[in-house]
Amino acid sequence: MVTLLATTLSGVATAGELDTEARGLVKEFGSTLKGQLVGAMKEGGPVHAIKFCNLSAPGIAADVAAASHWEVGRTSLKLRSEANAPDQWELKVLEQFEAQKAAGTDPQKLEYSEVIEQDGKKRFRYMKAIPTQEACLKCHGSTLAPEVEAKLDELYPNDKARGFSEGDIRGAFTLSKPL
Ligand code: HEC
Repeated sequence: MVTLLATTLSGVATAGELDTEARGLVKEFGSTLKGQLVGAMKEGGPVHAIKFCNLSAPGIAADVAAASHWEVGRTSLKLRSEANAPDQWELKVLEQFEAQKAAGTDPQKLEYSEVIEQDGKKRFRYMKAIPTQEACLKCHGSTLAPEVEAKLDELYPNDKARGFSEGDIRGAFTLSKPL
């Protein structure tokens, strides 16, 4: 994807820096989320961890955003929380990631960035795919424990984020910054 990033952003002086910054934030956001998730699972099992994700994931995103002046979040084609719904640009990129994966690209390597114009202002946008790992299947896999299913049904009556297998694209990190 490095070539694509370079072509998309040619002419923008700080494109490389912005990509690097976005990757750093994804790492920070991703590892904080995962660390806290693993901790919550250990502490009280998956039902406890669901409550943790429900309450804390948006908060962690807000903290990273506040410290960095970027907008930071997660989105998906198969949503659990409707608060994470993709906009038109994100939808296009998520579909592009699926097509690239189908054509054989390793989902770990899928990223995309572009400068777009929104309401007459330039904005740098970046997305990075999130592959499904084994640790995700307790809450996003095909066979869920009955108590996990019950808790998810209660919190997310329109949950579409089930039935994933390891290696599927679960969703993507999405970041943006006004230029
Ligand atoms: C303990 C249950 C649990 C586990 C394990 C879990 N998730 Fe989730 N996931 C949730 C909940 C609950 C939400 C909704 C949280 C929110 O409001 O953002 C969610 C939301 C998401 C979203 C945001 C998009 C959406 O559908 O709303 C992504 C992406 C995601 N999870 C990826 C993962 C990945 C990748 C893993 C494995 C590393 C994982 N999850 C493990 C419970 C879980």
